Amino acid sequence: MTHTTPGNEWWRTAVIYQIYPRSFADSNGDGIGDIPGITDRLSALQNLGVDAIWLSPFYTSPQNDAGYDVADYTDVDPLFGTLSDFDRMLDRAHELGLRVIIDLVPNHSSSAHPWFQEALASPPGSEARARYIFRDGRGSDGELPPNNWQSVFGSPAWTRTTNTDGTPGQWYLHLFDSSQPDFDWNNPWVHEQFRSILRFWLDRGVDGFRVDVAHGLYKADGLPDWTPPREAGSMGGSLENNQTPPFFGQPGVHTVYRDWHTIFASYEGDRVLCAEAWVEPLSQLALWVRPDEMHQAFNFSYLTTGWSACAVRKIVDDSIAAFSAVGAPSTWVLSNHDVVRHASRLALTADNPQGDGIGPRSPGLPDATVGLRRARAASALMLALPGSAYIYQGEELGLPEVIDLPDSARQDPTWFRNNGKRYGRDGCRVPIPWEADTPAYGFNSTGKSWLPQPDDWSALARSAQERVEGSTLELYRAALRLRREYSLGSTQLRWLAEYPDNVTAFEVGNVRVLTNFGTVPHRLPEGEVLLRSSGTAGESLLPESTVWMRAM
Ligand code: GLC
Repeated sequence: MTHTTPGNEWWRTAVIYQIYPRSFADSNGDGIGDIPGITDRLSALQNLGVDAIWLSPFYTSPQNDAGYDVADYTDVDPLFGTLSDFDRMLDRAHELGLRVIIDLVPNHSSSAHPWFQEALASPPGSEARARYIFRDGRGSDGELPPNNWQSVFGSPAWTRTTNTDGTPGQWYLHLFDSSQPDFDWNNPWVHEQFRSILRFWLDRGVDGFRVDVAHGLYKADGLPDWTPPREAGSMGGSLENNQTPPFFGQPGVHTVYRDWHTIFASYEGDRVLCAEAWVEPLSQLALWVRPDEMHQAFNFSYLTTGWSACAVRKIVDDSIAAFSAVGAPSTWVLSNHDVVRHASRLALTADNPQGDGIGPRSPGLPDATVGLRRARAASALMLALPGSAYIYQGEELGLPEVIDLPDSARQDPTWFRNNGKRYGRDGCRVPIPWEADTPAYGFNSTGKSWLPQPDDWSALARSAQERVEGSTLELYRAALRLRREYSLGSTQLRWLAEYPDNVTAFEVGNVRVLTNFGTVPHRLPEGEVLLRSSGTAGESLLPESTVWMRAM
């Protein structure tokens, strides 16, 4: 059986499931998920009804940023297995009709990458240094960083090197952790390396790439100082008042994606490039998916929209308008490995910039019941929208953010670079539960887990939700089945006017989708109910719930 849409451009309507390898399934019991673990569990994803999977990085890496610090772009880290394990996983996914997208990290490498090690060992002005962004410091002895940029994870974005004779040397730029030096994309050598990396994986048969920090890569000439318009703390230093930071969204990035587009065009099949670009407004983001560039871009403006009918109506309209202006589908996404899971986020009462996470001392902590109810309603709404949707592993189980991780267990560099002031992203990365009442909830058979799992996850385990009416897993499964049956991904959306302000109401194809953002129930129109995110047959449109009905 195959789930993939035959014909061209499957990605326009696909539901793509994000696997975070270290937390998905652990075959060798060392507490860190791996590729054979993924292979073993792929049929569960086919059963769920997704079209494709996207794997976060599994490349050779010191794991300072959970693999987003790559030391070899064309090999698998022994933690996760081998290249043959990867090939087997890819074959198995294809057998099951699942496409496979992998992560590409072109903005920076690991400081352990031989290219960077060679740069450190070479003198200023050398070819090896010109692959990265090395500069002399300011001040009389070069003791001050070359400019005032702050890393996305907090603290200065520059680290000073030590010369081979022990004296202080030049500085290098890292928009993220100091173990993630930025490449200099003005250097054609860098372009050439990434062309071969793309080809290496395309030749192996991958169906596409999610491109990490796809708004980075180029930095403004002269690396001018920049002060963000508001407190930094988001994954992208998002652009308020349309102010473009000199390190994000520079025009040069588009030349790279046009080049990659031509490489993709030379391959058989329908391969996809999806941009992780934290830029606003949506009209800016749409530049990444013009017809000769990438195919998809994560819609983070949608992800960051709060629990409000009015805000959701507006962002859906704005998204469809901005993406259709360039002929691209919108993507929809509510959770990933960088943000507080939406089963918690949608009930937060205090501001929480994306990437900051929440922990026991955070203000405005969410009510778990409210959070899950809203998350189910929001997911049911999202899965009806035209375009492509991304699901993050565990959201189909209704997993909340793990808030009470002990400080000693935290591993996100954000936590360390801010002396614990920002909790970071560990709470959404805890290994997921497969089986109730077994060691590590079936994540492995030894009970080890690189981040501790909560004691009360048995009820959320996949085994406890399979075939259980009303479970979050069955809600997702039903939504995906109906989405396919009614071709919702490829139909037009039409708003219905006759509903109160706090109810969003639209039709897609033959399905009417109603979401009650308010606190009182609403009467449902006559007709056949296809799906409901809460409540049982015969009930009205309950507060904080979504209902799909057959359109009249
Ligand atoms: C992206 C990744 C994030 C990582 C960062 C640096 O935002 O999603 O997890 O920390 O890039 O590579």
